[in-house]
Amino acid sequence: MKTVISIIVLVVIAGGVAAAAVPIYLMEKQNRQTAIELTGGDPNRGKDAIGQYGCSSCHTIPGIRGADAMVGPPLTKMGTRTYIGGVLKNTPDNMKMWLKDPPGVDAKTAMPNLHLGDEDVKDIACYLYTLR
Ligand code: HEC
Repeated sequence: MKTVISIIVLVVIAGGVAAAAVPIYLMEKQNRQTAIELTGGDPNRGKDAIGQYGCSSCHTIPGIRGADAMVGPPLTKMGTRTYIGGVLKNTPDNMKMWLKDPPGVDAKTAMPNLHLGDEDVKDIACYLYTLR
C-alpha cells in the first residue's frame, strides 16, 4: 500500500514538472524563431560571439556564462525594451546600428565601438532578441 502511494505521489510530481517544463520549452522555441525572423541571424553563433567580444565584462546577460557585470545596463529582456541606449527605438535595424558603432549613435555613450563584423552584428542582435 505504501509503495502504491509512493508511486502515485511520484507520478503526480513528475506530471507537474512536465506540465511546467513543456510550456517553457515551447516559449523559448518561439522566442528563438521570432528572433531569427527579426534579424536574419543565428542565436547560437550570437551567443559565441558575445563571449568572444567580451560583452560580459560590462553587461549582465541571461544565458551567457559569467556575464554578471554591472558597468552597462543588464541586457535582460532586451527583446522587449522600447529604447536602445535611451536614444534609439528598439527595432532590429537600430539594434544592428547600435552594436556596430554606439558612439556613432550617441557621442556621449560609455559603450565603446568594439568593431564587430557584419555577421557578428546580425548574430548578436539575434541572440539579444531571444531575451524576452
Ligand atoms: C566597456 C563596457 C562595455 C562593453 C565591453 C559593452 N558594452 Fe554595451 N553598453 C555599455 C554601456 C555603458 C551602455 C549604456 C549606454 C547608454 O545608455 O548610452 C551599453 C548599452 C548597451 C546596449 C543597450 C542597452 C539598453 O538598455 O538600452 C546593448 C544592447 C549593448 N550595450 C550590447 C552590448 C554587446 C552585445 C556588447 C558586446 C559586443 C557590449 N554591449 C559591450 C557598456 C559596454
